Amino acid sequence: MTTRITGIAELVTNDPAHAHHADPGGRLGVLHDAALIVDGGRVVFAGPVADAPSASSDDLTIDVAGRSVIPGFVDSHNHLVFAGDRTEEFAARMSGQSYSAGGIRTTMTATRAATDDELEENLVHLIDQARRQGTTTLEIKTGYGLTVEDELRALQIIARHSDESTLLAAHIVPPEYADDPDGYVDLIVDEVIPRATTAKWIDVFCDRGAFTPEQTERILAAGKTAGLTPRVHANQLQHGEGLQLAARTGCASADHATHATDEDLAALAAAGTVATLLPGAEFSTRAVYPDARRFLAAGVDLALATDCNPGSSFTNSMPFCLAVAVRDMHFTPAQALHAATAGGARALHRTDVGHLAPGARADFAILDAPSYVQLMYRPGVPLVQRVFLAGEDAH
Ligand code: NIG
Ligand code: FE
Repeated sequence: MTTRITGIAELVTNDPAHAHHADPGGRLGVLHDAALIVDGGRVVFAGPVADAPSASSDDLTIDVAGRSVIPGFVDSHNHLVFAGDRTEEFAARMSGQSYSAGGIRTTMTATRAATDDELEENLVHLIDQARRQGTTTLEIKTGYGLTVEDELRALQIIARHSDESTLLAAHIVPPEYADDPDGYVDLIVDEVIPRATTAKWIDVFCDRGAFTPEQTERILAAGKTAGLTPRVHANQLQHGEGLQLAARTGCASADHATHATDEDLAALAAAGTVATLLPGAEFSTRAVYPDARRFLAAGVDLALATDCNPGSSFTNSMPFCLAVAVRDMHFTPAQALHAATAGGARALHRTDVGHLAPGARADFAILDAPSYVQLMYRPGVPLVQRVFLAGEDAH
């Protein structure tokens, strides 16, 4: 069936042909008085209403009456397979304690003790919340099991809900290996990676209290041999070699990048590695925000994601992250929306999502606002009115 979305005051396409005055790089692509036509789950027309092909009587027409339509958010960094709760850790942090990677163990214990059904119910609930806030593609990581069986069961659960599954067995060294971290790396390389057949990505938390650059390289190399594509958590807690390593090993994305030197940014730009900035993490750990202007000036492609996890960033709201990114990371509104849609798609090596050109998946959101800029201008207001996944109403 053909669906025609009409009355669109502002259609964000991410098509560079639709350059936009408020976006000097011209990458967002915005049309006014536009129509979007969808057939078979794909976009067949995205353009000025005057150029739209004529309607047939069987078409379903939705008149959005002067609202804005945007590509669905591509949230390229999430940790959603977990059980338990760390509310008290957050409260303690907001009373002055600092964040450490050690809190991951609290969630590990609860996750290991949970049944498959409990984990899946929590996952589905979080995905549903994200959808209602406009997210149409979600990457999902393991990383709270940290045994062979628990990591593999997390992958199985993810596979039922996302094509973007990431093995993060190297999230932290579990307590059983506290005296033998390299033994845990051996376990990941020898026992987990060869059986991670449904995973698309291999990820490592390369930072203080987690894995060293040497361990990270070993794990990424083993992942690549098994057909997984690398990405890393790098330089969240302190400056280290993570960003350089990401560039050198061909990572699709280096995530967090809270601490980055000019040399790090030059290396990412030269390698074409996306930097995925995670405003929820700085927000929830009271850390200093990285400045998007530095990354963009260095020619680094940016993605914005939620990093939804129970420790450092328990938000799955891309609109919230957009607002913080603009206010505190100095993205322009256009740059932020681009990073949250096309940027995320690039970080996931996806060409079918994150934009609304003919041929793209018809994943989009109708905003209860005349402009996407209101996502940042009216923070915390539920402006995502309807979400479509492959042309179907997701609600
Ligand atoms: O991306 N940095 C490592 N992992 C998560 C935090 C996990 C946790 O605290 O449970 C992150 O911020
Ligand atoms: Fe993360």
